[in-house]
Amino acid sequence: MTSDFFKYQAQTTPHPLAMEISHAEGCYIYDTKGKAHLDFVAGVSACPLGHNHPKVIKAIKDQLDKYLHVMVYGEYIQKPAVELTKLLSKHLPESLKKTYLTNSGTEAIEGALKLARRATGRSEIIAAKNAYHGNTIGALSIMGFEERKQAFRPLLPDVRFITFNNAAELSLITNKTAAVILETIQGGAGFIEPKEDYLHKVREQCDKVGALLILDEIQPGVGRTGKLFGYEHYNCIPDILVTGKGLGGGMPIGAFTASQELMDCLMENPKLGHITTFGGHPVIASSALATLKEITESSLMQQTLEKEKLLRTLLVHPHISEIRGKGLMLSLIMNSSELANALILQTKERGLILFWLLFEPKAVRITPPLTISNEEIEEGCRIILSVLNNIKQQNSTSIF
Ligand SMILES: Cc1ncc(COP(=O)(O)O)c(C=O)c1O
Repeated sequence: MTSDFFKYQAQTTPHPLAMEISHAEGCYIYDTKGKAHLDFVAGVSACPLGHNHPKVIKAIKDQLDKYLHVMVYGEYIQKPAVELTKLLSKHLPESLKKTYLTNSGTEAIEGALKLARRATGRSEIIAAKNAYHGNTIGALSIMGFEERKQAFRPLLPDVRFITFNNAAELSLITNKTAAVILETIQGGAGFIEPKEDYLHKVREQCDKVGALLILDEIQPGVGRTGKLFGYEHYNCIPDILVTGKGLGGGMPIGAFTASQELMDCLMENPKLGHITTFGGHPVIASSALATLKEITESSLMQQTLEKEKLLRTLLVHPHISEIRGKGLMLSLIMNSSELANALILQTKERGLILFWLLFEPKAVRITPPLTISNEEIEEGCRIILSVLNNIKQQNSTSIF
């Protein structure tokens, strides 16, 4: 299987972790050698209820027995998609009423950019340095990390970048701007929270010049930061909210939500303003509906902030210079990128899954399922500290 993996399945790095999966349950992933791996990553924030959650599996199986794909997006009334968008709207402010369901986060970003251009009649998009919004040409154009986009130029024109958290640069948002797009908490950059009233100031500047504000909540959304959406912490409501990842409960999904007035722009001039075959797929919408119900009806979001405290209390070590993020969207900032690499690779050998962040080589991702227990957190932290103590000894003999 390993040689076929390298031979037939396209790779995106020369050194994938290449662990062969047997099955997964709760906060554990089991490899085909029978080893259990405690999951501190949750499929990169995509499995908020852990693996094979009984309510999610039941919802998927029930839908499997009814129907799979029957028609392209938006033509037929399919209960799972209707109930999912209705439940989302129940938990959002009045101005975020209608949701378009897509197949991935990136595709929802594309839809949001198109909607902003169509609604404003403007073309300029302002994004943040070190931002990540996905990998298609549009999303890549607003990625604020030149090294990873240079090879794919030319990209979209009329894209400008501001420095996240620098209010002095907000004057770049003008009456030429269709939209400002920001991650509510910058993910790939190292889990950077917006300072004080930064997002509120962005909101004010957008209102002043008639630009739309798009918040990308693909990673912080759906309970991960202790609120259903990250923006609830920062006194700022977007015009277009983009979600994905955790919303699907382990199934591929994306969504963008806006007011009825904005969203209806996609119906005319031109008609079929954004189309997809599989968006709103009934099985995926069923999984998402079960996930959203569980997160909004249980105490998981409250517990998330308690679990953050526990992690912050336990993860104190001279090799860790800082812990960034909110709730169960945390990153350890190590003293060096070599330490981050060593920690991720060595904890893997000890049965704990950690992972990198895209643009901050000193960062180590900690985004476990929201369902993780205190005992599992303690177990994972024990492994991290033990590995770090060991690295210290090896470091003195100059392993790096
Ligand atoms: C903030 C953010 N935006 C967009 C995306 C793209 O989502 P997807 O990989 O589902 O297309 C991601 C994925 O990591 C993300 O973290």
